[in-house]
Amino acid sequence: MSTMTRRKFIKATSAGATVAPLIFSRAWGRMSPNETIHHAVIGTGGQGGGHVRKFQNIRGCEVVAVCDVDRKNREKAAKDAAANVKMYTDFRRLLENKAIDTVSIATPDHWHTPIALAALMAGKHVYVEKPCSHNIYEASLLKKAATQYKKCVQHGTQRRSKGDHIEGMRLLREGAIGDVYVHKAINHQLRGKIGKAKPEAPPEGVDYDLWLGPAPEVPFTRNRWHYEWHWFWDYGGGDVVNDGIHQIDVSVWAMGDRYPNRVVATGGMFYYDDDHETPDTLMAVFDYDDGQIIFEQRLYTDYKLEGHDNGNISYGTDGRMEFGRDGVIVYPNESDSYQVKSPEPVEGIVENFLTAVRANDPSLLNSPIEKGVVSSDLCNLANIGYRTGVADLRFDPDKVEITNNAEANALVRRSYRKGYELPYEG
Ligand SMILES: NC(=O)c1ccc[n+]([C@@H]2O[C@H](COP(=O)([O-])OP(=O)(O)OC[C@H]3O[C@@H](n4cnc5c(N)ncnc54)[C@H](O)[C@@H]3O)[C@@H](O)[C@H]2O)c1
Repeated sequence: MSTMTRRKFIKATSAGATVAPLIFSRAWGRMSPNETIHHAVIGTGGQGGGHVRKFQNIRGCEVVAVCDVDRKNREKAAKDAAANVKMYTDFRRLLENKAIDTVSIATPDHWHTPIALAALMAGKHVYVEKPCSHNIYEASLLKKAATQYKKCVQHGTQRRSKGDHIEGMRLLREGAIGDVYVHKAINHQLRGKIGKAKPEAPPEGVDYDLWLGPAPEVPFTRNRWHYEWHWFWDYGGGDVVNDGIHQIDVSVWAMGDRYPNRVVATGGMFYYDDDHETPDTLMAVFDYDDGQIIFEQRLYTDYKLEGHDNGNISYGTDGRMEFGRDGVIVYPNESDSYQVKSPEPVEGIVENFLTAVRANDPSLLNSPIEKGVVSSDLCNLANIGYRTGVADLRFDPDKVEITNNAEANALVRRSYRKGYELPYEG
């Protein structure tokens, strides 16, 4: 029997859930197939603008509200939504709108969990972009709140909704490449330098205080702003939580959505000599009793690593399986290969979210939050290893603690600016 088939897979459970104290939304039970789902997008920049178009184009769903602290992005997004769309600057006001059933969150990462928690408490189902949280402690709260409030929380790791990936995982578990001991996650691409930006006044029409939210108050710069915030620890976590998380998610999926025994991570700022705080080079090994996930990130190249810029390779005793831009390919040996195809059409990640919402059944989600949390946590652990130089991190997911190093454990949580504390503490 292959190693994969022996593994136990985590099952979503709502056992132990308590009833939500307040339910404002009408999305509290199974909806009729003809009922329209009223959706809101919070954070309408690059990705959130895409959310508006995507949700709006799905039959049975209408984008009724958009929210952004930047008037320009808010108004641009509103043009793609229904004619009667409501615009909000402050998500807290949006969440008071009882007509909204579902929200998607595509803000910078430091806002993901605080908004998701508030949305769950307001009775909404949530689609939260990856990474689900800015830090490990937040992720644990989000998982807890999803269970407590009995809502669907989909994590924006879309590869789990690709038919060839689903079929590839099935084949992997059936032993198509024998016993599998190593899963490689590759993030190998050129991401340019950002220079050094000077402090300036925030652009007109921007609520910068609300953009900063829980993060410390610092002067506005063009680099601590749209998209480039990814490279600052206060808001993002660098490319491992930006693009790398998609590949780590595929490897974690292959490992059965489990936590490793230890994390060994190291990296460097070899190429960037600018405002970047997050590294251009990062390597992490996630050690399990029965195998390893190896993550490799290099952001100074425009050539591929073992055929991939963003991709995965699982190495078995009887061949290897690759998940990448060319689909899923099995190589039983060096001269043979075959492409994996889905035996049936599979819903995309957004359609899948809406199906689960309609049935009011989180077990239908392809990227349920409890799995997203594992992938997000592994990325955050890799960053903690890099930042502290601790080469052997032991994380206890039940205690939500790094148990063998106090300095590393301090990065499991962040502090919250006054007025922007978390709305839920479990
Ligand atoms: N799943 C994917 O493949 C994928 C792809 C791209 C981006 N993403 C994720 O989407 C998120 C957004 O990324 P982006 O590239 O669009 O960033 P972005 O900076 O372009 O957009 C973020 C938007 O959020 C707004 N915002 C900030 N704070 C807000 C708040 N409190 N309330 C409302 N709006 C707020 C900003 O003004 C901005 O318009 C990130 O978390 C990123 O990881 C996912």
